[in-house]
Amino acid sequence: MKVLVVGNGGREHALAWKLLQSDTVEKVFCTPGNGGTAVLNNCENVAIAVDDFESILKLIQENSIDLVVVGPELPLSLGITDYLQLYNVSVFGPNREGATIEASKSWAKDLMIEGGIPTAKSATFTDKEEAKNYIYQEGVPIVVKADGLAAGKGVVVAMSEHEALRAIDELFAQNFSKVVVEEFLTGQEVSVLALTDGITIRPLIPAQDHKQIGEGDTGANTGGMGVYAPTPIVNSILNDRITKEVLDPILKALQKRGIDYRGVLYAGLMITPEGIPKTLEFNCRFGDPETQAVLPMLKTSLADVLLACAQQKLSDLPPLEWHEGSAVCVVIAAGGYPGSYEKGKVITGILDAENQGATVFHAGTKLMQNEIITDGGRVLGVTCIAKDFQSAIADTYSAVEKISFEDMYYRRDIGHRIL
Ligand code: AMP
Ligand code: GLY
Repeated sequence: MKVLVVGNGGREHALAWKLLQSDTVEKVFCTPGNGGTAVLNNCENVAIAVDDFESILKLIQENSIDLVVVGPELPLSLGITDYLQLYNVSVFGPNREGATIEASKSWAKDLMIEGGIPTAKSATFTDKEEAKNYIYQEGVPIVVKADGLAAGKGVVVAMSEHEALRAIDELFAQNFSKVVVEEFLTGQEVSVLALTDGITIRPLIPAQDHKQIGEGDTGANTGGMGVYAPTPIVNSILNDRITKEVLDPILKALQKRGIDYRGVLYAGLMITPEGIPKTLEFNCRFGDPETQAVLPMLKTSLADVLLACAQQKLSDLPPLEWHEGSAVCVVIAAGGYPGSYEKGKVITGILDAENQGATVFHAGTKLMQNEIITDGGRVLGVTCIAKDFQSAIADTYSAVEKISFEDMYYRRDIGHRIL
């Protein structure tokens, strides 16, 4: 079959790479793709923006594409799935209503409450002064969340009252009409990505991301600086609890509202010190960089599973199979990220890293005159699989050290919580 991957990040490179390992996949198109998908065998980049649905449809029809896999949340929340389904295209990714689970924090909170899913206590406000009064009443630390897509910048974990009040002022000034104010939770954060066809749900192996830019989990939040999977934090008992208390009930709650959800349900969990998996958020897509560690561990054909989700036949497939060992992905960023950074730096050493056994997923890169140059904040994700966690970390860092470009930055402590 021919598959289209929509998006241009590290996640989309990993999706295209994994899809091409399926015997049933002959070719992958990426719109628009990046430098990594540009040099991947049997993969073709087509310069179409992720929200240009008409051009995407034309590409699908002209090339008889069998399956569309949507990477980012933006086109999902704009209704790419609804649009393509009108033309009988098989799409992996929820429709617009389903994508609201990520696009609106208050909507997601209501759904969690309907489903009885453990989550932080919260309240939603459309009035600035009422939100502030709630903060005075609850005290700090407290978490303030924009009720809309904010490219990872909509959440403020406020340690002081001043910070919380400023976040309220700033979010209302940015024209968010609603904010969610939430109880501050402590514990270990875990990402569980589950695949669903709207009827059946199958969790992937649990991962742990490192959201902050600085070592020791300090500094500004980013899209994610490194990840490992499976995380030893989640044992089989906790895994079962996550399925029973989070994944099954959220799917039921979606069904109850009549939402036909076919795609990823990504639960961002806080495992509290008491061992309770409390949901911080749901995303409607694969995580980035979680995908770059989770998919290399998958033995089952990704194309078969995603097509089965899109066609509502997931229960026909045997259980997912996984490789032994651990996967680690370290993200290499441009100096300055998540603030301002430069682009256009020539990257060297990718082949050397790959010759050592690493898989190098491109994120913000592009191919220019036979050279790979930087083209974004998060530039590459370097993944290694090894028999145990310690070896995977060591192998990954050894591969990362082969790569270089001006001002490159990466965290040297990915995996510190486990080590
Ligand atoms: P979210 O987009 O809702 O996952 O929030 C982004 C990040 O903020 C999370 O990955 C957490 O690190 C942090 N966060 C969100 N909600 C809470 C909470 N209730 N307590 C503590 N930290 C939180
Ligand atoms: N790695 C976090 C996310 O994809 O939202």
